[in-house]
Amino acid sequence: MANGMQGRRKYTLSGFACSGLRPSTSLIEDNMNSFKPLVFSGVQPTGNLHLGNYLGAIRKFVALQQNNDCIYCVVDLHAITAQLVHDDLRGQIRSIAAAFIASGIDPNKHIVFNQSAVPQHAELAWVFNCVARIGWMNRMTQFKDKAGKDRENASLGLLAYPSLMAADILVYRATHVPVGDDQKQHLELARDIAQKFNIDFQEKIRAAGTGVDMVVGEEPIHGFFPLVEPLIEGPAPRVMSLRDGTKKMSKSDPSDLSRINLMDDADEILKKIRKAKTDPEGLPSDVEGLKGRPEADNLVGIYAALAEKSKADVLSEFGGQQFSVFKPALADLAVHVLAPITSEMRRLMDDTSHIDAILKDGGERARARAEAVMNDVFDIVGFLR
Ligand code: TYM
Repeated sequence: MANGMQGRRKYTLSGFACSGLRPSTSLIEDNMNSFKPLVFSGVQPTGNLHLGNYLGAIRKFVALQQNNDCIYCVVDLHAITAQLVHDDLRGQIRSIAAAFIASGIDPNKHIVFNQSAVPQHAELAWVFNCVARIGWMNRMTQFKDKAGKDRENASLGLLAYPSLMAADILVYRATHVPVGDDQKQHLELARDIAQKFNIDFQEKIRAAGTGVDMVVGEEPIHGFFPLVEPLIEGPAPRVMSLRDGTKKMSKSDPSDLSRINLMDDADEILKKIRKAKTDPEGLPSDVEGLKGRPEADNLVGIYAALAEKSKADVLSEFGGQQFSVFKPALADLAVHVLAPITSEMRRLMDDTSHIDAILKDGGERARARAEAVMNDVFDIVGFLR
């Protein structure tokens, strides 16, 4: 039990190997039970992984593993929310796992697994479906975008998607979640769900002899789930389409020219960058000059992220140049960074038994952790076992 609020401290995550990856802080009581920093994130096995997934998420996963305990998940249960039947879901699952490993994630030191191997995700999601309010779900911009005009016809799973996403994280009581900018609203909802659970079950959590004293705002409470910290900052939190600098680069864009896929070869990358939309001006010499030029801003941002430089540094090198000079340099850099990952992915995909063994082992280790958390949840909620 905490010694009053004296032990309160800022909660920090160590080991950001990438500059610019700084977690915001939350106040969590420093006592024997306090939440241990744990990184969790997931990627859906729907379509080709692209440069946005790599720069916005996977590269952060790799950086974070240096000094933190990390769990990285191929979220296959999420894959059937928007499209029920897939031609080759298993192949897609394996290719995301291959991308994780080819990018440098160590599945022995950390955990790499697919979500459906751990039934506790779906169990906790059910409890969270009863915690979350329909109004919260209806406000999700991704739900509105994906459901489109015909909302009545969207699957119930698509509406409940953020509740499963909260369960993915909280079934491990993970504290930090590296994602691209488009997932921010979902993570705010995960915090709302954790907070409502903690407050509604406060007495039960105490009675079950679990949980930690924590401070939410100014309010001291005895809670079970951490309020997750999104890790969104980084070199490229939102990579835009190569065909339209106002639209996010996305797996579901019908035009393959809009994105660079991790499996693209050098010729494809060159072609896509050559055809990338630009405006008639040359490159400005400072970042201010990118304002109102979304396509130029995006290409400079991609170059900066790939080169691990600032946009200002890129412009000090290329300012005043035409895109006919900049685009080939960008293509060369993209090939230089992506080619080793692509070839390692291909090698891994040739031996699916190796990937399957990694996922199986990761699933077993994840399940052991999730089971322990769900045992407490059963006690707190009052289910009889
Ligand atoms: P998903 O599969 O759509 O995308 C995987 C990751 O890539 C990031 N991302 C981008 N980053 C920068 N620019 C882009 N254009 C871009 N496009 C995608 C996403 O932000 C994400 O980090 N709901 C999640 C999967 C998920 C999850 C979770 C994530 C399920 N459960 C729990 C974290 C924690 C999704 O659909 O990501």
